[in-house]
Amino acid sequence: MKLSAHVLPRISVQQLRAFEAVARLGSVTKAASALSVSQPTVSVQLRELAESVGEALFQRGGRKLYLTEAGRALQETVAELQHCWQRFESRLADTHGLVRGQLHIATVTTAEYFVPDLLGPFAAQYPGVEIELAVENKDRVIERLNRHADDLAIMMLPPTHLNLATLPFLDNPLVVIGPASQRWSKRPMPLHKLSAQRWLMREVGSGTRQVALAHFAAHDFSPQIAMNLGSNEAIKHGVAAGLGMAVLSKLALMPLSDPNAQTLLPGLAIVPVQHFPIHRQWSVVWRRDQAQSAAARAFVRYLEARE
Ligand code: PGA
Repeated sequence: MKLSAHVLPRISVQQLRAFEAVARLGSVTKAASALSVSQPTVSVQLRELAESVGEALFQRGGRKLYLTEAGRALQETVAELQHCWQRFESRLADTHGLVRGQLHIATVTTAEYFVPDLLGPFAAQYPGVEIELAVENKDRVIERLNRHADDLAIMMLPPTHLNLATLPFLDNPLVVIGPASQRWSKRPMPLHKLSAQRWLMREVGSGTRQVALAHFAAHDFSPQIAMNLGSNEAIKHGVAAGLGMAVLSKLALMPLSDPNAQTLLPGLAIVPVQHFPIHRQWSVVWRRDQAQSAAARAFVRYLEARE
C-alpha cells in the first residue's frame, strides 16, 4: 500500500463516516439508512475512499461485507480520529466551562472612553462572564487595589508600593487642547508662549493631572491654574466655552474605534505645542499575591492578543 501525505486532503469526512458505518454494520444498505443518505451515495463514497487509499477495504462473504486487512487498519485509524476529536471537544468545553463568573475591573476615569470598546468583543467571546466595571480616578483605583477589591485594574500610572504584574497594551498620548475660537498656529509653539493662558486641571488624585504637572515642571513651565475640575467631560466643556486650556488624553477626545474621526467636541481644538504629546501607555495590572480567576486570565490574554 502506497499512502503519502497528499492522500489525506483527498479523503473527506463523509467518506470516513460511510466507511465506519459499513464496517460496523456489514452492509451498504444498513449504513445508508443509518446515515440517512442513499445507497449509491455510500457506494460512491466507499469507492472513492478505496481509490485514495489504493487498496480494497472490504471483501464480500455471502450477503455481508467484511473488512480486508487494509480496511481493519483504516477502521482503527478512524476510531483514533474520533477519540482525538472528542478530546478536542472536551478541552473546548473545559475552556468555556471554566471561564465563567464575575470579572471585576477598576478603570481610571480617562479609560472609560475606550474600555467599553474593548469589552464588547471579549463579552461576545465569553458569554458566561459577567463584567463589573468601576470607574474612579487614579488614587481611588489604587485604594481599590490596596483592598483587593478587583481582579484587574486599567491605568496609566501603576503604583510602585504594591507587588503588581503590569501589561502595557495601548498608547496613551496626552495632548494640549484649547478653544477652537482662538487662532492657533499650525507649527508647534514653545510652552512659554502659553504662560498668559489660564489652565483647567483635573482634580487632585487624577493621573492626568499628575503627568501634566510633572511634564510642565520638567520644562520649567508654571501654568496659571484657573480651575480644578472633577471629570474629563467638565474639562472639555470648560475649554470649549473658552474658560482656558488643558492637557487631556487623546482617547478622551476621539474614539478608539476610529482615532481619525473628526469627533472633537465643537468648540475644541488640539493645539500643537512643543514637547507634546506626552507619550504614556495604558496598562492592565493585577496583584501578584492574589489568585487570578479564569475570567481575569482570559481578559489579560485577550488584551495581549490585540494588535
Ligand atoms: P485619571 O486617569 O486622570 O482619570 O486618573 C489617568 C491615570 O491615572 O491612569
